[in-house]
Amino acid sequence: MGFETILFKSDGPVGTITINRPDALNALNSTVFAELYELFDRIAQDQALRVVVLKGAGEKSFVAGADIREMADMSRTQAEARSWNGMRLYDRMRRLPQPLIASIQGYALGGGMLIALACDIRIASTAASFGYPEIKLGIFPGTGGTVLLDRLLGAAAARAICILGERLSAERAWQLGIVSKLVSPGELAAATQEAAATIAGYSPVALRELKRALNASLELDFAAAREIEIEAYGAAFDSQDRQEGMNAFLEKRPPRFIGK
Ligand code: CAA
Repeated sequence: MGFETILFKSDGPVGTITINRPDALNALNSTVFAELYELFDRIAQDQALRVVVLKGAGEKSFVAGADIREMADMSRTQAEARSWNGMRLYDRMRRLPQPLIASIQGYALGGGMLIALACDIRIASTAASFGYPEIKLGIFPGTGGTVLLDRLLGAAAARAICILGERLSAERAWQLGIVSKLVSPGELAAATQEAAATIAGYSPVALRELKRALNASLELDFAAAREIEIEAYGAAFDSQDRQEGMNAFLEKRPPRFIGK
């Protein structure tokens, strides 16, 4: 697809995106933001893709944050514009109809932890590490990173992570619920593929509507989120896939979901 900073390949229903700036530990510069946005827009239209994996190139780093070299000389206006751009990307990711799995082998720091949090599921190796070190640079995770962490983890844990700026081990991130599955470095690729294959076997309609309900819960108040949940549930219930899932159960055979 001719991108400069990211790679994309698909293997049947599973798409894999690699952020490919290993010399800068895959730091997110404006080209990465723009290219990822464009790619996610295309993926959203591609019904053959049922699940997407996001990873970082090389052994050492998933993503070591936003590109500090690029940010160093920015004005306030440029920094604010860049934050809007980042938030637009993370919203795009959350609203992708397909589930997104972050496969994390190394540093997931600052914007790197944030882009992992914008995925639906995080699978990490025990060599990974997490954290928001921005406070050490005289800023904070102001690309929606404070709000998102607060909503996902709860206020107390989020506050400590933002204010202390400490590095969290993969084990600690797993205890906190940031990481949903923790494996040894040698098992990461297989564990990621296994999760992707499991999700690829589920109904794309149910997954899309489930994500809509989960997003509503993250973004709206209780009553409004429940209204969307019922509406999304109705849409999933109305699908041929739901009929297939229930028929398959009753006929004691595996379901074949078609995404309708
Ligand atoms: N931006 C730009 N370049 C980065 C980078 C970043 N976030 N992180 C690492 N790099 C570059 C380094 O400058 C270095 O480049 P050179 O070889 O040209 O000097 C290269 O990647 C390798 O990095 P190190 O030599 O530093 O590798 P290390 O193993 O000694 O340390 C590290 C690894 C602990 C991750 C360290 O690189 C580091 O602390 N990186 C910065 C982490 C950080 O502060 N992230 C938050 C960024 S701000 C943010 O994300 C903004 C926001 O949310 C709003």
